[in-house]
Amino acid sequence: MVCFITVLLIIYIIWDANYFLRCVFTFGYAYLFQKKRKITETTTIYGLCTTQDVDIFIRHMNNARYVRELDFARFHFYGLTGIYSLIKKMGGGAVQGASSVRYRRTIPIFNPYKITTELIWWDEKAIYLQQKFITFDGFVRAIAMSKQNITKVNVMDVMKKFDVKRPDQPEELKIWLDAIEISSKKLRKDE
Ligand SMILES: *[C@@H]1O[C@H](CO)[C@@H](O)[C@H](O)[C@H]1NC(C)=O
Repeated sequence: MVCFITVLLIIYIIWDANYFLRCVFTFGYAYLFQKKRKITETTTIYGLCTTQDVDIFIRHMNNARYVRELDFARFHFYGLTGIYSLIKKMGGGAVQGASSVRYRRTIPIFNPYKITTELIWWDEKAIYLQQKFITFDGFVRAIAMSKQNITKVNVMDVMKKFDVKRPDQPEELKIWLDAIEISSKKLRKDE
């Protein structure tokens, strides 16, 4: 028993064990037990601002924690829509290329919330997700856009299998991508 607790303690100290547990649980639950969704549908997970999530004043969720939660919501979206399995099957992979979070109002400690995830656009190389943190009063506390780089496969080929029409590029996404391009050019010039 003591040995077991020691091993557990070591695991918790050197790894962010809760991160791995949440990833496996969230993806697994979606993949195995929940009703599958169309790629165009919005998916939802629920969360609670716990003592692990708060900022230094122990009052509300710290900003890094939002980004961490976005991962779980994305894996859940992947599990429910089957897009990740398809990309894997086609020999590709996914990696976060960029994200932008706008914090509109804090999420206080012990407050529940939901995160919605929606695919808003795609191009050859990436898919673009919009995610919202919404509290039960309906207020969008934070909104995030992210670019998931899809490696080794053309996203257009992936999306063909879902048989969906590409929506118009949202204006804020277009401007954001322009900003990324400018930043990228600057860095390349410096390097
Ligand atoms: C994501 O893709 C962009 C080009 O679309 C590239 O410049 C960037 O390096 C990629 N990021 C990662 C982490 O692979």
